[in-house]
Amino acid sequence: MEKIILTGDRPTGNLHIGHFVGSIANRLRLQKDGNFDKFYIMIADTQALTDNADNVDKVKNNIIQVAIDYLSAGIDPNKVTIFIQSQVPQLAEMTMYFMNLVTLSRLNRNPTVKDEIKLRGFASSIPVGFMCYPISQAADILAFGSTIVPVGDDQLPMIEQTREIARTFNNTYGEVFALPQPLLPDNKACTRLVGTDGGLKMSKSAGNCIFLKDESEVVKQKIMNAYTDPNHIKVSDPGRVEGNVVFSYLDAFCQKEHFARFLPEYESLDALKNHYRQGGLGDVKIKLFLNNILQEILQPIRERRKELEKNVDKIYEMLFENGKKASQAAAETLEKMKEAMGLNYSKFLSKK
Ligand code: TRP
Repeated sequence: MEKIILTGDRPTGNLHIGHFVGSIANRLRLQKDGNFDKFYIMIADTQALTDNADNVDKVKNNIIQVAIDYLSAGIDPNKVTIFIQSQVPQLAEMTMYFMNLVTLSRLNRNPTVKDEIKLRGFASSIPVGFMCYPISQAADILAFGSTIVPVGDDQLPMIEQTREIARTFNNTYGEVFALPQPLLPDNKACTRLVGTDGGLKMSKSAGNCIFLKDESEVVKQKIMNAYTDPNHIKVSDPGRVEGNVVFSYLDAFCQKEHFARFLPEYESLDALKNHYRQGGLGDVKIKLFLNNILQEILQPIRERRKELEKNVDKIYEMLFENGKKASQAAAETLEKMKEAMGLNYSKFLSKK
């Protein structure tokens, strides 16, 4: 079986360090391994519009931002096809056929959709397009015959639903789709990074993000203001590591070699945590340590971004070219779908 990777992000803002550890790091690893037949990354503008119908400019303007974030983080456009969702109209047509295979009650049970409805305060005025975005996401994934979908854990219900749609289609009309697998980060601490305020998830709307494009002083300031343990007032107080944002980030980003470089008096993260729990270790010290680690990761990304920003036209051209390629690939799948469904009306023409 071919190994086809597909993933994507909604262009509603710049990517942050939660995206980085949650999914970009895995994409970079897959890219480096080179063990795949095709690798697509989709900028999901159509999906972003499902809850931004009145804010098209935001979505439109963030397409290039997300593309620059990918490239500056190290995604190589020679290996990975980065494209814009709306430039593949076949996805919308597939969505129409898939909609008939999903019940409303099944959509209502999708945990990610439920969370988002609460978060967006839709109450009972939920746009139909929003409610159906898991079906359109299934089209994104299945259109390219994807077998691997690198994502953060909030996307697991989407992939489960995609698998169900693929199974139902195959059972109803005949075998067309392979069942895709999610790929989560190995390190549990990376699957869902908390916000700098200790909020459950780093998210633009909560204003608790460290963005890949943030200038170094901004990154430092956000770390210095991050939520730690409100009862750890004096350095000598014992501190809590659980729920402490600085330690959550260290769990996600800190490698053993960082100690030799930035904090040689400790051997490991466990030793640092033990000292913090006992008391005698101040927040400033752990924050500066985290700052050193993050600056080292973010600085090259920021520098590449500044270079890329000088030639935005070239990036748009790449996206548009890739849109055509992606559209061709999706058209082939759509043809197979229609064939399986018996929607091949050309047979009604009397042969000459
Ligand atoms: N739902 C994803 C997000 O909110 C974006 C997305 C759209 C996606 N289509 C996809 C992710 C297909 C993986 C595969 O970030």
